[in-house]
Amino acid sequence: MTLKTPVYLDNNATTPMDPGVLDEMLPYFVERFGNAASRTHAFGWEAEEAVDIARENVAKLIGAHPQEIVFTSGATEAINLALKGIHEPYFNKGAHVITVSTEHKAVLDTCRSLETKGIEVTYLPVLPNGLIDLEHLEKSITKSTTLIAVMYANNETGVIQPIKHISRIARKHGILLFCDATQAVGKIPVDVIMDGIDLMSFSAHKMYGPKGVGALYVRKKNPKVELYAQIEGGGHERNMRSGTLNVPGIVGFGKACELCYEYMEVDTNRLTTLRNLFESKIGRLGGTVINGKNAPRLPHATNITFENIDGEKLIFEAGNSIAFSRSSACTSATLEPSFVLKAMGLSNEQIHNSFRFSLGRFSTEEQVDYAINVISKIVKQHRHEGNY
Ligand SMILES: Cc1ncc(COP(=O)(O)O)c(C=O)c1O
Repeated sequence: MTLKTPVYLDNNATTPMDPGVLDEMLPYFVERFGNAASRTHAFGWEAEEAVDIARENVAKLIGAHPQEIVFTSGATEAINLALKGIHEPYFNKGAHVITVSTEHKAVLDTCRSLETKGIEVTYLPVLPNGLIDLEHLEKSITKSTTLIAVMYANNETGVIQPIKHISRIARKHGILLFCDATQAVGKIPVDVIMDGIDLMSFSAHKMYGPKGVGALYVRKKNPKVELYAQIEGGGHERNMRSGTLNVPGIVGFGKACELCYEYMEVDTNRLTTLRNLFESKIGRLGGTVINGKNAPRLPHATNITFENIDGEKLIFEAGNSIAFSRSSACTSATLEPSFVLKAMGLSNEQIHNSFRFSLGRFSTEEQVDYAINVISKIVKQHRHEGNY
């Protein structure tokens, strides 16, 4: 069989939907179209039952109770709900948030918005490997600190933060921990109890589910987290997020979680092997650096700096053959260099020549071999032609 191109190596931007997820969703568009909030007839009951099953599957994947899941339109909304919704109930304690300079824009921009409302925000730097310094974190805590917001795994580098250690620090000081786990859930084991997380955002389209649906985990006990709704209306989702539920999307999200639960080990083993193969073969070119290499990383992703090439030309020349990216999908339209790599200490030139390759459940060895060949050829050509 001939290989279909371009080969997709941008699964951190979004994943293709698993066909099993689509099958599960289809009946909920036309036949079973009921509103999950309709209590007076079978159409509503049927939709509500489907949402309940999905809620159980979503909760199971992260070790939560189904009633701790609030469905949203995606991780961005979940992040906004967590960071904005948490503050009012805790204002008497203070108003100081600690976050990290390498968080996703959805967290950073929401924090900037909190600052305009008088909330103080500390943006922690990262070490050259992308990890935060735990001592620095603890020293940044003040009497007013209400919340620590640290992502589970970075979207550009795949670097995994030591969430268990961070939560121990948060607990010790009586501070809540919010974790944006959009890139981690479904890919590596995430357990809100074992990890000590109080609020957590994640999204279906990063784990072979549909776009436009996600969730916020809100801890119900030890401690019970108080949250104010940001979208008001019919009081859906236990008054935390009003609006008619996206039943087909939620059904798909539930199925995606069920499949991730089932396939996680197999996917992880296979993708680790493929990613390592990619890194070692690309490494043979010489003059390459894997960003975050000595930190724990997601099994399917890599971020590589190529020395002595023209990054712009590489993207352009490889673009028809391979789909990959320079930083996150959200910032790929801007010409600004990646703030994540900048925070890790890379120069503008190094950032310009750094790329993210992220594999997924449907990536094959043949695709990876093909990508290695395409990239290697272009890099060799640049070095041959250039005055590097
Ligand atoms: C780490 C991280 N957080 C949040 C988001 C936003 O997710 P969504 O597209 O579901 O709003 C993304 C998506 O790129 C992400 O990678």
